Amino acid sequence: MIKAGIAGATGYTGIELVQLLHRHPQAALHWITSVNSAGKPLSEVHAVPWNYPLITLEEAYARAAEVDVVFLCLPHGQSITAARTFAAAGIAVIDLSADFRLQSAEAYRRWYGLEHTAPELLPSFVYGLCEVNREKLRTARLIAVPGCYPTTVNLGLYPLAKAGWLGDRVIIDSKSGVSGAGRTAKQPYMFVEANENMTPYAIGYRHRHIAEMELVLNGAAPGGACHFTFSPHLLPASRGILSTMYVRAPDGVTEPRYATCTARPTPANPLSTCCRPASRRRCVTRCIPTGAPSASPRMILAIRPAGISSSWQLRIICLKAPAARPCSA
Ligand SMILES: NC(=O)c1ccc[n+]([C@@H]2O[C@H](COP(=O)([O-])OP(=O)(O)OC[C@H]3O[C@@H](n4cnc5c(N)ncnc54)[C@H](OP(=O)(O)O)[C@@H]3O)[C@@H](O)[C@H]2O)c1
Repeated sequence: MIKAGIAGATGYTGIELVQLLHRHPQAALHWITSVNSAGKPLSEVHAVPWNYPLITLEEAYARAAEVDVVFLCLPHGQSITAARTFAAAGIAVIDLSADFRLQSAEAYRRWYGLEHTAPELLPSFVYGLCEVNREKLRTARLIAVPGCYPTTVNLGLYPLAKAGWLGDRVIIDSKSGVSGAGRTAKQPYMFVEANENMTPYAIGYRHRHIAEMELVLNGAAPGGACHFTFSPHLLPASRGILSTMYVRAPDGVTEPRYATCTARPTPANPLSTCCRPASRRRCVTRCIPTGAPSASPRMILAIRPAGISSSWQLRIICLKAPAARPCSA
């Protein structure tokens, strides 16, 4: 039985983890933390039937030895001290924040505007995208969970980057549910502001998550230095992300060849290493050929396998055909 703790269990990611670990046959939850609700049972904060007592992070430090692994579901900037403290106590750390996703303190400062106070730990963290780092993750003790937008984008585009088919420019249009911003009350995320509205923000080359796209996709593309234009939007939905990526097909690469990323892998298929047969049913990337009818996110919701994630992600790759052919709709 794996003994786990969750720092920041009252937030949106934390409460999802509580539910996943509570029903996990090989995991036992030993403590969970909160700032504002420490001392209360979890059932007083969320509509769940479990009375796990909420403790402070400082109490959790003192009880570090009770667990094998800690999940940090804290705002970025707050995970650094926690990760350092638990790692020093020999506890495996899975950090959901952005604090250990980038490879250098310079990159962290540039994208997050903060000084990284534990840069010596950055090389020890493995970027937790299974499809990219599966083998490293098997033995990793420190894991940086990827961001939400980059997960949709990187999973969709990684096979193309690996095959050298990404080109030098990709346009990404993403729409996110409101829970992606966390549980803290802020005006743009209030019901009256977000409901029946759709808001673009951080358009172009501004959003912090571009750093993770560059990390994964430029790292994967042979000689690749792709430029990403990223337009995120706030969608009036509680959860989920829809990402549509526009890629210019290189000469000689046809739509059927692109579509191999959603086909059964074969030795001849250069994309086969990304989507393994065991995970085929979980692969919800759609490659849309020219003139295809629309793909419905609701349809994707319906085929979402239970128990993997209660969130949904849809990735669509739209191909911009080579010059001689008409563009995709
Ligand atoms: N939401 C998503 O869809 C999503 C997806 C991927 C990654 N992430 C990342 O995962 C992390 C958690 O996100 P979230 O949406 O779950 O956040 P959230 O809903 O705002 O919850 C934050 C949690 O951290 C606790 N907390 C806040 N400040 C703290 C501090 N100074 N010290 C200790 N604990 C503190 C809060 O406790 P109390 O409020 O109970 O006091 C709460 O439990 C973030 O870094 C986020 O970027 C989020």
